Amino acid sequence: MTIVDSLKNILHVGKKESVLGIDVGTSAIKIVQLHQSSDGPVLDTYGSLALGPQVEEKKIAIGESVPITVSLIKKSLSYLMRESKTTATVFGFSLPFRSSYVKQITVPQMSDESLREVIDIEANKHIPVPLQDVTFEWFPVPELFSDIEENQLTTVGGRDTPLLEKKNTDTRTLVLSVVENTTLNLYKSIASELQMLNPRFEIEIFSALRSTTKETHAPTLIIDIGARTTKFYIVLHSIVFRSFFIDQGGETLTHVIMNSEKIAFQDAELKKREYGLEHPHEELRESMNAIIDNLISEININMQDFESHYHHAIGRVVLTGGGSTLGGLYQKIKENIPVAVEYANPFLYVAHQKNVNDILQKVGPEFSVAIGIAMRMLQK
Ligand SMILES: Nc1ncnc2c1ncn2[C@@H]1O[C@H](COP(=O)(O)OP(=O)(O)OP(=O)(O)O)[C@@H](O)[C@H]1O
Ligand SMILES: [Mg+2]
Repeated sequence: MTIVDSLKNILHVGKKESVLGIDVGTSAIKIVQLHQSSDGPVLDTYGSLALGPQVEEKKIAIGESVPITVSLIKKSLSYLMRESKTTATVFGFSLPFRSSYVKQITVPQMSDESLREVIDIEANKHIPVPLQDVTFEWFPVPELFSDIEENQLTTVGGRDTPLLEKKNTDTRTLVLSVVENTTLNLYKSIASELQMLNPRFEIEIFSALRSTTKETHAPTLIIDIGARTTKFYIVLHSIVFRSFFIDQGGETLTHVIMNSEKIAFQDAELKKREYGLEHPHEELRESMNAIIDNLISEININMQDFESHYHHAIGRVVLTGGGSTLGGLYQKIKENIPVAVEYANPFLYVAHQKNVNDILQKVGPEFSVAIGIAMRMLQK
């Protein structure tokens, strides 16, 4: 990966209404600038910058995760925005899922107005930290999901599954979305240091689902393999039904190569990108494949658990995040799970020049979150 990878030759500089989606990952910042045309979102420019080489105090390689600080992100983001020639004046940041909490909860049946009065008490029952340490929002889950006939069938991948969600008139279901204030304040400080006016913030789950899922009748499992963590989201019609993460990402495999071959992180990272899961050393290949086997059992266990709880079959799995581009990973996942697997192709939803189709499809998984937050900003 080049340090700055931006699409400078298709800039549409000067669009007043352009918006910038910003995804500060633990290993790299990704940005995407869009503007709205009468036919939908249009790509102005995009770019990514590995954070490791930007850290001055210590030698950190491309692909390695770093501690996120205001000064590091201020410096890196302003450099990336300059290099990518961004012109947007409207900014949206995605917030890391590892500092958040998204859950469906049920509360007694009441109007939105009454709910607003008691939401703190209800939320307090589900948020495992003091309410003054977090900022939270809630959204009602549309009645559609609690009003489905008991014998209604959905056919997914040849499997008929009854949808048993029954209307329960005593309760209503909400999605509770919670962010730690320390994280929110960190991002607010970054925006303020960069003189970004009225930035918006959104947990990365919602950004990823906006740019990777299409409307289907079956739930989708999105798997975002980042540098430090792998996130799992099960969504249907933009409603998050399950979300969790594991402390394992692309970096985990680099560490395995590094420790086994006793080489520096940057060399191990290069080997990982070159060989993928087909590393020439048998023992190392087995260790790397064992990590992916764990990931696959995590996927299968959670799919089965979701399906038996909701009686609704997952229709497809979407792979996203830079770590998902590991050579051989797609094939291995596809062979070991019972539903269709595809790569996220978020640039599909934004107009761009045809001659960059292939590049955008290749880098797409890395940019799902940044595109998703930019799309959100266009809706405002
Ligand atoms: N061609 C490739 N082959 C294998 N891994 C790759 C490749 N390109 C990038 N990666 C891996 O992708 C990861 C970075 O992905 P991404 O930018 O999505 O992470 P991040 O958003 O910074 O991390 P996180 O979401 O955990 O905060 C790194 O671990 C990197 O090694
Ligand atoms: Mg990420």
